[in-house]
Amino acid sequence: MSDLKGKVCLVTGASRGIGKSLACTAAGLGADISIAARSFAPLEKTAKEIADKYKVQVLPVACDVTKLEDLENLVNKTKDKFGKIDILINNAGVSSQYPFPEQPIEDFERLAHTNYLGYVRLIRLVINEMIERKSGSIINMVSGSTLCDPLPRNFIVYSSLKVGLRAFSKGLFWEVRDHGIKITSLLPGVTDTDLTGKLQEVTADNSRLMSTQAIEDAVRFALTVPANVCPLEIAVINQQTPWTKPVIPFKQEHPNK
Ligand SMILES: NC(=O)c1ccc[n+]([C@@H]2O[C@H](COP(=O)([O-])OP(=O)(O)OC[C@H]3O[C@@H](n4cnc5c(N)ncnc54)[C@H](OP(=O)(O)O)[C@@H]3O)[C@@H](O)[C@H]2O)c1
Repeated sequence: MSDLKGKVCLVTGASRGIGKSLACTAAGLGADISIAARSFAPLEKTAKEIADKYKVQVLPVACDVTKLEDLENLVNKTKDKFGKIDILINNAGVSSQYPFPEQPIEDFERLAHTNYLGYVRLIRLVINEMIERKSGSIINMVSGSTLCDPLPRNFIVYSSLKVGLRAFSKGLFWEVRDHGIKITSLLPGVTDTDLTGKLQEVTADNSRLMSTQAIEDAVRFALTVPANVCPLEIAVINQQTPWTKPVIPFKQEHPNK
């Protein structure tokens, strides 16, 4: 299948996990790819793997999405190489799970910059050229936890930022749809990646973790629907989501400890 031949897709947080899978999905559809993450060595390895497997061009760019200058550099490097950005898969994210009264206070800024502000800033940096071209697709990695009300315990700062991102995405859809731009929120359930690696150890039944396959299928759908259709939100949820009872008994070491 090569529905995206001639298109350029930028994926953040793409050295591993869901982002890497989605970069493969876009490459499998024929798009050239720009991929970003903080650590360059694993990113470069992923770029080579994707280029070898899918025979598309892949540009790895070291980028910390919490830094505006890194985001500007990412966009500039991608446009220098490919001339444009047709698809943005805004995916980079970090998790932190604590009972709120015990959560290190410096976590809040790190989570807000990675999981919310980085998304909004990067969209702002690419959207005006999409508007000029009257086409573009933006996929934002939200979270299935946003479907819970109240939000899952020990997880409320992360999840509430994802709620904000979900609301922003929906609002943006109405604002830019007349310019031919599609905005899609993805709401995955608990997926087997490094982000949930420690969770896997404490989850009673590992079969409740999803593989990235269902998320790849959802994104392939979002990127290949007819031009006049926009999947606004796609939730791909575990059949027996671990957010119900028992509440996640998980406490992550703070990365700065
Ligand atoms: N896994 C799940 O169960 C799940 C469920 C719902 C939603 N999500 C969302 O899906 C997205 C991906 O999660 P994942 O499970 O694939 O995580 P992961 O396996 O930990 O991968 C995270 C990716 O993001 C990059 N990254 C982290 N911080 C970054 C930063 N500041 N700047 C640039 N890149 C950064 C990482 O590379 P570096 O460390 O080298 O930067 C890595 O490539 C996140 O937004 C997460 O919230 C995940």
